Amino acid sequence: MKIDKILPVFPFTSLLWILSCFRGCLGSNFEAFILKTLTMIIGIPKEIKNNENRVALTPAGAAELVKNNHEVFIQKHAGIGSGFSDNDYVTAGAKILETIELIYEVSEMIIKVKEPIESEYGLIKNNQIIFTYFHFASSEVLTRAMIKSKAICLAYETVELDDKSLPLLIPMSEVAGRMSVQEGAKYLEKTFGGRGVLLGGVPGVYPAKVLILGGGIVGTEAAKMAAGLGADVTILDVSLKRMRYLNDIMPANVKTQMSNDFNIREMVPTHDLIIGAVLIPGTKAPSLITRDMLASMKPGTVIVDVAVDQGGCIETTHPTTHDDPTFLVDGVIHYCVANMPGAVPRTSTIALTNATLPYAVKIANKGWKSACRDDIALKKGLNIVNGEVFYKGVADAFNLKYSDSDIAL
Ligand SMILES: NC(=O)c1ccc[n+]([C@@H]2O[C@H](COP(=O)([O-])OP(=O)(O)OC[C@H]3O[C@@H](n4cnc5c(N)ncnc54)[C@H](O)[C@@H]3O)[C@@H](O)[C@H]2O)c1
Repeated sequence: MKIDKILPVFPFTSLLWILSCFRGCLGSNFEAFILKTLTMIIGIPKEIKNNENRVALTPAGAAELVKNNHEVFIQKHAGIGSGFSDNDYVTAGAKILETIELIYEVSEMIIKVKEPIESEYGLIKNNQIIFTYFHFASSEVLTRAMIKSKAICLAYETVELDDKSLPLLIPMSEVAGRMSVQEGAKYLEKTFGGRGVLLGGVPGVYPAKVLILGGGIVGTEAAKMAAGLGADVTILDVSLKRMRYLNDIMPANVKTQMSNDFNIREMVPTHDLIIGAVLIPGTKAPSLITRDMLASMKPGTVIVDVAVDQGGCIETTHPTTHDDPTFLVDGVIHYCVANMPGAVPRTSTIALTNATLPYAVKIANKGWKSACRDDIALKKGLNIVNGEVFYKGVADAFNLKYSDSDIAL
């Protein structure tokens, strides 16, 4: 194991150093060719944030990286919460390391799910690539710790395609959107405090009415699930373009309506399940359902405010946890769990890694600099590199110096 730890690191880093000295003479094609043949050591720690059962790589993902000549180390039991045993990873060609310390010590790239927590800060090394969700703007402590670490922090949440979509956030919105109906249906049951209404009704009994605020990724997935169960669904959005699209693709039991205060006030008293799925990027979600509207709702109505992570689109929303997911205001059940995908870690792990793996392979094959030069979407994921902040939103949030990532590439 000791030789395993040391040998692969030495030739990789020294070759990179030699290459960087001769970059001008060798030309970028030759450099890319050499980089492609090199092994990267990739480490997958077990997530230690409270109630986090996802893992950053599936055995299938490990096999793909190994096939590309990389070495993959998984911390013992890292996949257990998502239903993957150590043996599944070993069969895929990965190696198991006992402790998180060893994973950080041997790896050139760490792939994670959640941002590092305080006990991990000291394990992160100068020049180590950390590819994970960071959400830097919500934590100055984390931002300063990563600046101090001099690591290369590539954040899932800011990888952005030309059409402005966020490919590494979409899978979690898909999970939360579908789950919102499942949770809503559960809390509509009498034993959970709801109105005692079955979403699809039965022959001779009307189906439940579901109102969805926002017809983006979450809203669309929620509408598909609710419609599939036979509910009477209405999606409210402010984008006519989006509503035209939804109108074209949705079944007949899904209607669209313009989102405004007048329409919302009129609709909330007649609906059984309300799903909050609004997003205005970079700002707090607007309070579309105000406190006074709750009095007009039927007792046992259920609100699932998926947008809670952006402050929520219901005035009475506050974040809850899987341990205690709901609270009651004026007889209306509020479900406001800020990390809904955490309840279905196996599905979420596979969905997340389906999206992250192609980028991980690119980084491992080309090195982070070439990968970011060649892929503008990935380049937008560069948040902090060697102590410099390359993402404007993060620099602005904490009054830090912002540098253009081109200077690092
Ligand atoms: N709680 C969780 O576990 C969890 C998980 C994933 C995503 N989310 C959150 O869910 C929210 C929605 O995410 P998404 O990926 O669907 O976003 P999205 O950008 O795909 O969709 C947002 C939609 O809201 C619409 N909108 C904006 N203003 C509106 C208004 N006033 N009325 C009605 N619609 C309006 C937009 O036109 C857009 O169609 C985000 O806040 C996201 O962070 C939460």
